[in-house]
Amino acid sequence: MGNFAEGMNISRSIEYKSIPNFPLSTVKGHKGELLFGTMADKQIVCMQGRFHYYEGYSMQQVTFPVRVMKALGVKLLIVTNASGAVNPNFEVGDIMIIKDHINLLPNPLIGPNDERLGVRFPSMTTIYDKTLRDKAKAIAQEIGITIREGVYVGTTGPSFETPAEYKYFRTIGADAVGMSTVPEVIAASHSGMKVFGMSVISNVFREDNTTDCTHEEVLEGVAKAGNKMSNIVTRLIAQTL
Ligand code: HPA
Repeated sequence: MGNFAEGMNISRSIEYKSIPNFPLSTVKGHKGELLFGTMADKQIVCMQGRFHYYEGYSMQQVTFPVRVMKALGVKLLIVTNASGAVNPNFEVGDIMIIKDHINLLPNPLIGPNDERLGVRFPSMTTIYDKTLRDKAKAIAQEIGITIREGVYVGTTGPSFETPAEYKYFRTIGADAVGMSTVPEVIAASHSGMKVFGMSVISNVFREDNTTDCTHEEVLEGVAKAGNKMSNIVTRLIAQTL
């Protein structure tokens, strides 16, 4: 999504390290800035770099930026990621709209509930906004991008899956697996924000191909398709909010 910020009219950027309580990203390829500005006259706050549980942060730290966004008045959270497909019909470079998720990470809402943020037992049945998903599909079609829709399973990582684990994820109903997104989505939904999510397929698990999945492969896959995702998000923002 490197070029996404280029389409943004940035009025201010704040380094994570100068924001109290903000964690710092440790992953190669992830920056650490909060960008403020507009896109198609819509007010945007954009995270350049996000936090992952596998980096050693608590789930509260991983979701802290979403709480900050809520406090700033953000109404819609748009999340993107790279993931490995377990749906054999998918291909490297495909874009998948997230229609649902399976959470295999610790739940970020564990602990005392702050009623100012949301209820103790929030519903998760309609998290991924149907209207936005339909709009994104229409946009993709309009600009000639093949789009998938599927279920994202969030795991802790940082190790990639064994063949048995990939097969297990397929069995339980997932289309793609990744190590992010689900915590932020749960926190956003808890506090009443709308959510739209998309995933770049950076690698595809196939039983007949047992080559190792590497971080380099993931970065390559993202480089191929990141701009497609960025185009969709840009148009979605212009048409939606
Ligand atoms: N598994 C988990 N996370 C990932 C993968 C994968 O295959 N690809 C990109 N992120």
